[in-house]
Amino acid sequence: MISRKKLLSDFKTVRKASIDMIKPLNDAEPYIQPMADVSPPAWNLAHTTWFFKKILDWNIKNHGADILPDYLFNSYYEKLGDRNPRTNRGSITNPAMKHILAYRKVVDKKIISLISKVNDSEFNSQQAVWPNSVGKGNLSFQIQTGINHEQQHQELFYSEIKNIRWQNLPEFREAYNKTKLPKSEISRKTKFITIPCGTYTIGSENGWAYDNEYKAHKMHIAEFKIQDRLVTNGDFLKFVEDGGYNNPLYWLSNGWEFVKKEKLNSPLYWYRNKSNAWKIWTLNGDKDLDLNEPVTHVSFYEAHAFAKWSGARLPTEHEWEAAAKHLKIPISDSNLVESKILHPKAPKPGKTQMIGDVWEWTTSHYEPYPGFKEFPEGIGEYNGKFMDNQRVLRGGSCATSKNHIRISYRNFWPANTRFQFSGIRLVIN
Ligand SMILES: [Fe+2]
Repeated sequence: MISRKKLLSDFKTVRKASIDMIKPLNDAEPYIQPMADVSPPAWNLAHTTWFFKKILDWNIKNHGADILPDYLFNSYYEKLGDRNPRTNRGSITNPAMKHILAYRKVVDKKIISLISKVNDSEFNSQQAVWPNSVGKGNLSFQIQTGINHEQQHQELFYSEIKNIRWQNLPEFREAYNKTKLPKSEISRKTKFITIPCGTYTIGSENGWAYDNEYKAHKMHIAEFKIQDRLVTNGDFLKFVEDGGYNNPLYWLSNGWEFVKKEKLNSPLYWYRNKSNAWKIWTLNGDKDLDLNEPVTHVSFYEAHAFAKWSGARLPTEHEWEAAAKHLKIPISDSNLVESKILHPKAPKPGKTQMIGDVWEWTTSHYEPYPGFKEFPEGIGEYNGKFMDNQRVLRGGSCATSKNHIRISYRNFWPANTRFQFSGIRLVIN
């Protein structure tokens, strides 16, 4: 069940958070797109509003919120009309921020009014399990989808502004986040925890979740052992110093091509200063490489090569979920966006870091679950059409919202993606 009051409160909270996030930006930053994956912050603000505007389109005739063109802010929904190409988003300087903020206000007002006034049957407070719940004529489902969509873009925003500021020379880079990073904990040796052979439920069994998390199904999983913490910068530095980036034997063929073409020799945002010491760029500014913090901003290819060099492997997404369920990993008390650090933390004693800190690459290709059924209507293009040439990541990061992440949550990116807070956990048999 979800009440109107709770939905209204969640909606207002998430919409305000997006506005708060752009406050530290200078005048130029809302319009910058340093690479195709990075959308300008102004575009994010308008696109998430366009998503809610589509919900108005489905529910109200002549709602009057069509004040900016869909063409500019539709991302990839073929059925919802033509759109500005993704690579062109950074060429657009108008509508100016004041028009985008006005667009947000108009759409917010109409969504709040819709939630308050729609009749009970159309609001549908029953949290039916997808795909038994109906999208059209089920406002609570639609609004929750819009809220979760905006939370995804908020996480993207953090990784995007990190990349935008990284483009500047070190002496001109400014920290986005003024929160001081916590002092590193004492180095913690890693152990492997045995996850017993058995039949595990994979996927979401109740409540709002993305279509790609349904249907829940049983899987038989052989015994394996999973690392009790994330791979650290110190662990990864040994791979770097051992010539890991120069030895083709550790790499998948496409990974080796990628490393050579991009001339990679370390994770993204690592660099050496004039004294040849390793530094990293964070949302909290430049800092010395902390050997006890989890390594992040590695591609699947780097994660895979590191695992091979280590004599281990990456988990499948099913193994990851079975381990999280077997170990009863809680969502609370994790380093998620609410901790306001925006950087992965060194592991505390007894903490596995399976939720928060960094997304964990799995070796699983992003595929539909048995009985998968896409979301209805215009949002049918949300997940299913991307089940092609992508790998699954699990567990959320320091930029993920607490009420957005779930044990069953499936993130996915192409294997060469490095700008997300992505990291590594090893398994062995
Ligand atoms: Fe989107």
